[in-house]
Amino acid sequence: MAIHLCSHPLAQHLLTGLRSTETNPQHFRPLARRLTTLLALEATADLPTMASPITTPLEPMEGQVLAHGIVVIPILRAGLAMLEPFLELFPDVSVGYIGLERDHATAVAASYYCKLPQVQGCTTLVVDPMLATGGSAGQAIDHVKAAGATDVRLVCVVAAPEGVAAVEAAHPDVPIYAAALDRELNAKKYICPGLGDFGDRLYGTL
Ligand code: PRP
Ligand code: URA
Repeated sequence: MAIHLCSHPLAQHLLTGLRSTETNPQHFRPLARRLTTLLALEATADLPTMASPITTPLEPMEGQVLAHGIVVIPILRAGLAMLEPFLELFPDVSVGYIGLERDHATAVAASYYCKLPQVQGCTTLVVDPMLATGGSAGQAIDHVKAAGATDVRLVCVVAAPEGVAAVEAAHPDVPIYAAALDRELNAKKYICPGLGDFGDRLYGTL
């Protein structure tokens, strides 16, 4: 499976807080932000750099700077929880938005918004905390590839095996970064053990 799990012990510590029913939105948001920082570092650990000559206070040297632009695309609405840590780590990123919402009865995602920046030649990170059936992530990746993205990565908090398999089948070139690969989907296509509806827990719309 093309999934990279974050091995830092802090990731499991933070995820445990997100999973607990005792965590209210006020505490859920900072936990999500801190966990996303770890995931963002993991998902970008192999970004290419290029030489950049500079002078330190002592002497000239060949520094290294990131070689390509970075685009971050949160899938609305829950993906918004993951945007800020990327902006803090990579202030130069361009940001696109893709709006997708799962139908409560069928769990099939419908697209309601798409606004993308220039993606050609960039590393494009699609961010969405929950990879359940993979329908939302698959559609989002379709959009960014149609816009010309070639180096596409998916960053999520919790993934289900069904979603990983779906993304891998449709987009075998797209690596997935997550904090956990959970057991399975239930009959309503929620991830088990999961953490419930991420968007509802984030925004208090339960
Ligand atoms: C959730 C989640 C993902 C999607 C995952 O969003 O944030 O986008 O479900 O499910 P899938 O892999 O089966 O497509 P939801 O549609 O509930 O919308 P929201 O972010 O507005 O809450
Ligand atoms: N979306 C969520 O927010 N949680 C799930 O378990 C599945 C889809």
